[in-house]
Amino acid sequence: MLVVPDLSAAAAAAAERIARRCEQAAASRGECAIALSGGETPRALYARLAADPFRRRIPWPRIRVFWGDERGVLLDAVPVPVDRIHRMPAERPDREAAAEAYAALLRAHLPQTADGWPRLDLVLLGLGDDAHTASLFPHAPALRETRRAVLAVDAPHLGMTRMTLTPPVLNHAGEIIFLVAGPQKAQALRAVLEGPRQPDAVPAQAITPVDGSLVWIVDAAASSALTHRV
Ligand code: 6PG
Repeated sequence: MLVVPDLSAAAAAAAERIARRCEQAAASRGECAIALSGGETPRALYARLAADPFRRRIPWPRIRVFWGDERGVLLDAVPVPVDRIHRMPAERPDREAAAEAYAALLRAHLPQTADGWPRLDLVLLGLGDDAHTASLFPHAPALRETRRAVLAVDAPHLGMTRMTLTPPVLNHAGEIIFLVAGPQKAQALRAVLEGPRQPDAVPAQAITPVDGSLVWIVDAAASSALTHRV
């Protein structure tokens, strides 16, 4: 875990890790496939990635962008070719078909792991104050998914349906970065890292890398309820 003073420092640390992963993947396999998170927390990060030095450092024409769920972020500020930006088609009325189409997109553009999962180089995740991540909400069937890569999910507390990558896809990524900031996340972070293991109630606990790395980048406020550093 990397604990930094504030959101700006967390964004800087995450930008550095993302740049490094993109450089490594682009050098080793010719491109880097990343799944981005929506929400407010990564906005400071995206602003950094869109500005120098990262704007110049990251090989944007060799980056392929997916989303962890359909709350898309705009990439107008960086030169990722439009055919390498894959937004979730959340507007399609048939959400099951849309989820399957997005899963096919992942399979078409990503290398496959030995056990048949599309392998993202990097996944950026946030944490809700109920410990959800992506659109994997507490007690959601998606948390127990073992076959499908993308699911249309209900978000009754939000009065809407969403689309999300499933734990197997997220867990097969080369690198997972959780970016968490703010005092309102402190109890959720403590539940994830120090509470009993119960991913059905604490969804971010379902994120356990198969053979990649996972790093928590958190600010002091979000880590304030932790009793020890992991
Ligand atoms: C999304 C994210 C979601 C988000 C959390 C935290 O696109 O909504 O996938 O899981 O990371 O809800 O959101 P904030 O950063 O706004 O607190």
